[in-house]
Amino acid sequence: MNDQFAQDVIKGLSDTPKQLPSKYFYDEKGDKLFQKIMALDEYYLTNSEYEILDTYKSQLLSLFGSDVGKFNLVEFGAGDGYKTKVLLKHFLEKEARFKYVPIDISGNVLNILENSLKKELPDLKVEGIENDYFRALQQLENNGTRNVVLFLGSNIGNFTGDQAFNFLKGLYDGLHRGDMVMIGFDLKKDPSVILKAYDDSEGVTRAFNFNLLDRINKELGANFDLDKFRHFPSYNPQTGTTESYLISTERQQVELQGQVIDFDPWESIHMEISQKYGMRDVSNLALQAGFTIAQNFYDKNSYYVDSVWRK
Ligand code: AVJ
Repeated sequence: MNDQFAQDVIKGLSDTPKQLPSKYFYDEKGDKLFQKIMALDEYYLTNSEYEILDTYKSQLLSLFGSDVGKFNLVEFGAGDGYKTKVLLKHFLEKEARFKYVPIDISGNVLNILENSLKKELPDLKVEGIENDYFRALQQLENNGTRNVVLFLGSNIGNFTGDQAFNFLKGLYDGLHRGDMVMIGFDLKKDPSVILKAYDDSEGVTRAFNFNLLDRINKELGANFDLDKFRHFPSYNPQTGTTESYLISTERQQVELQGQVIDFDPWESIHMEISQKYGMRDVSNLALQAGFTIAQNFYDKNSYYVDSVWRK
């Protein structure tokens, strides 16, 4: 694991232009910082999706289960389940016949989630799977029960266009006819609203980005001087891509596992992309991956869509 981390970091910092994989944001400190981001008003994504799930929970239940009576509610990257619990609670109240299957590569994340569910929703049937998403799909028994896969939070936005398409194609291939997915997409909107979500006034997002340099210092024995870097988020309204950079404010060298990384003045490290979509992009992705679109659910500002698709 640490070897993979070291390899990926060295590879990314040796690339031109330099980059670091955003999946490494999420160590223990990074998880906490991301939770703080989600609680910020400026990070409108969480509130928008929460509003959608809360407003449409009964429509969602009919869509997922009314024709089959029984389903698996599978979730990719469930995190703390803050938003999903709205659905779980409602589905239980309506005595829906379903099992909740959170999937995460981190057993620790799953344990915390399962414990909190045991306390808050003791009647819920939970069967977490500790694996990567596609392997976990193969692990689900194929007994004709419908799978409904949730991929919320605009997590898909961390993929490039090609990666997103390949991910959805892989998801389609891993499902059975009649299975469904619900995917959260953050939509294009006033660019200043988007920029504030990635450049919040409390500096939490900045700390979230800097935490990866800190993690590299601690885990890989590097000597990044965090004071010599600046956080710079950007949004391109044409491509819909939000990108975060850390920029070296001067010429400097950083040492990392016996390697020297040279920085020119104002050279950047690309940290993360957070894609914003138009509704035509969403439809095209669904159709190109092979799905049909069942229904789109928006918040009242139309900042965000949860799009439900069927195989
Ligand atoms: C968890 C990938 C959806 O891109 O909006 C939040 C991560 N990065 N603030 C996003 C994130 C900076 C987030 N996702």
